[in-house]
Amino acid sequence: MSATIPDEARRRAAELRALIERHAHLYYVLDRPEIGDADYDLLLGELQDIEAAFPALRTPDSPTQRVGGQPLEKFEQWRHLQPMLSLANARNADELLAWDRRNRRLLEAHGLGDAPLSYVAEPKIDGLAISLVYRDGLFERGATRGNGVVGEDVTANLRTIQAVPLRLGALDRGEPVPAVLEVRGEVYLPLAAFARLNESRTAAGKSTFANPRNAAAGSLRQLDPAVAAARPLDIWCYQLGYREGLEVDSHWQSLAWLAGQGFRVNPAAARYETIEQVVAACAAWVERRGEVDYDIDGVVVKIDEVALQLDLGEVAHDPRWAIAFKFAPTTVVTRLQDIAVNVGRTGVLTPFAVLEPVPVGGVTVERATLHNEDDIRRKDVRPGDEVIVQRAGDVIPQVVGPAISEQEGAQSVAAHEARPQWTMPVRCPACGSPVVREEGEVAVRCPNRSCPAQIVEAVRHFVSRGAMDIDGVGDEAVAALHEAGLVGNVADLYELTLSRLVGAPLFARKAIGPDGQEIVVPNRFAENLLSAIAASRRQPFARVVFALGIRHVGAVTAELLVEHFPSLDELQGATEAEIAEVPGIGPVVAATVEQYLADVHNRETLTKLRAHGLRFVEEAPRRAAGPLSGKTFVLTGTLDTLSRPAAGERITALGGKVAGSVSGRTDYVVAGANPGSKLAKAGKAGAEIIDEQTFLAMLGAAGDPAGAGGSEGAGGSEGSTGGGGA
Ligand code: IVH
Repeated sequence: MSATIPDEARRRAAELRALIERHAHLYYVLDRPEIGDADYDLLLGELQDIEAAFPALRTPDSPTQRVGGQPLEKFEQWRHLQPMLSLANARNADELLAWDRRNRRLLEAHGLGDAPLSYVAEPKIDGLAISLVYRDGLFERGATRGNGVVGEDVTANLRTIQAVPLRLGALDRGEPVPAVLEVRGEVYLPLAAFARLNESRTAAGKSTFANPRNAAAGSLRQLDPAVAAARPLDIWCYQLGYREGLEVDSHWQSLAWLAGQGFRVNPAAARYETIEQVVAACAAWVERRGEVDYDIDGVVVKIDEVALQLDLGEVAHDPRWAIAFKFAPTTVVTRLQDIAVNVGRTGVLTPFAVLEPVPVGGVTVERATLHNEDDIRRKDVRPGDEVIVQRAGDVIPQVVGPAISEQEGAQSVAAHEARPQWTMPVRCPACGSPVVREEGEVAVRCPNRSCPAQIVEAVRHFVSRGAMDIDGVGDEAVAALHEAGLVGNVADLYELTLSRLVGAPLFARKAIGPDGQEIVVPNRFAENLLSAIAASRRQPFARVVFALGIRHVGAVTAELLVEHFPSLDELQGATEAEIAEVPGIGPVVAATVEQYLADVHNRETLTKLRAHGLRFVEEAPRRAAGPLSGKTFVLTGTLDTLSRPAAGERITALGGKVAGSVSGRTDYVVAGANPGSKLAKAGKAGAEIIDEQTFLAMLGAAGDPAGAGGSEGAGGSEGSTGGGGA
């Protein structure tokens, strides 16, 4: 047969296959296409023509063969060459640490106590586990996990997933290929594709899928491969199974090898040296899970060294060397009663969801963040909708999107469509001023500096714990002071007297005067308030700078500013460019600081505050020599026992330095709960990540913990403009 095929056709078919595979890999696996769809289709068309003329050239690994098979009667069973194990769960950091201790004990007992041990942490994809079998480098079979020993042969459907290589890269490079290889991965439907799929199903009057996982499973278990092909399934490959002719020493190495063969390997996988780093990474994933275009329900942590994996083995059906850190289930469906707007201290209008109260993960949620108008448009939630609400860790709940009821299907979509879309008010809900949207900004703001909402928020911030720490002024008191006309800006606080305070009912009580008449006198709250205000005059300059509530200036940024400009005069004398030169302060922050200081009203407030005796000079040398001298710390996340400013004060009191962002000069990153992106940077910068316990131990070892000042509790979130919190 093959003798009848002209060499030229054979050569061109091979060339086309290689070209098509290369461009498919660039597009589907690396997300970096080099040619357009039309050009790609031309190549594919030419190959199809050649194969039609010479069917013997139509090999199973040809890219034309991704969709081809006839609908099946039923799926055949497939026995996995190596069982597909499941994973034990860790629900929190303690369980993760316990898992690690157990492993270390076992290794020690086996004489491997000193062997280097590291970890790989990767997102746990909430899809459908599958196994791909390659023989002599060619894709031969793919199956679902089934019961772990026997699954269903879904080869034809898996072929339709463009990111599943039909041949190993080694084959094309003329490198040795394993005789037999199992590759394990997760098939999933990207969130955007899931939304589109449900939308078109609804339009067609079909039932919708409850979640992306069900949609992926339903698609992969289609008897007609053409249906599966129409679903934009994707895959992450994360593990080797049975293998002949391939040696790897570590899991990390196997991931690199898989990527080199053309498999789609999640770039979010990372290697760590200590379990504390793994714990921090898991905590970071709780925050980041919403950033990726696929559902994840946890983090899979694997011991990297294959030799240690083999030594640890498995118990029941779970390997001891791997564990799934599972996220707490935190989504719930409730009704969006309304979308209301909060005006922050800098005038930014932040919409928030008013929800029918619903319990999520142990707390009742009535409010949720809806960052801005674009966010609401993108999620397409409308007042009256049933919505999916997610609470990740301790953070403010988020509205994920509308919950289209599966039972009601088209009806619930129609009801949603019938509801009007929400739009941002054109006037400030607090003062009625027309709002403005500055160019290049998403934020809509109220330009009125006498706006009561802004004043109240600014005063609240000023008196808060991380700022001037004025005890006894809760939200209610701030509102009362403002309502009574006693506080119109933060400087007014220092002009309060007992006789003025009786003007606010909250601070007054009735008494009988000397002449037997009923009179109004200041109550105990009034006296306490005045002494707390008086005490606040002693707060250090950095606290004052933070308390001013300058946009983007959190506690850490305030510390940085003060460190470089240790007095108000120096700060006011600095140009925007000089401020931007401070390590850890970017151009945006520098610009807002400059603007704040240049504003006449702000200058007036500063003059008044100075006249009232607040500290506008850094008194003690900030960096006295001490046990932490020469060490630079970055704080991220919320600490249980200290506010960030307090933690910063303790560090500087001991001679250390606090920086706002991670750089090559960072020695330690202190990771509290829900740390941010600083954690990821820490690894790259070579900084050591330490948890709160270790940090406290360091402070304790370095100095007398009782001796350091600072209030405890509220961890200020950097540069937050406030929003509709729960
Ligand atoms: S490794 C021996 N890695 O989680 C290790 N599994 O509960 C076996 N999964 O059946 C699995 N993402 O469906 C591994 N990055 C990942 C994963 C992952 C999701 C799923 C997989 C498995 C289940 C175990």
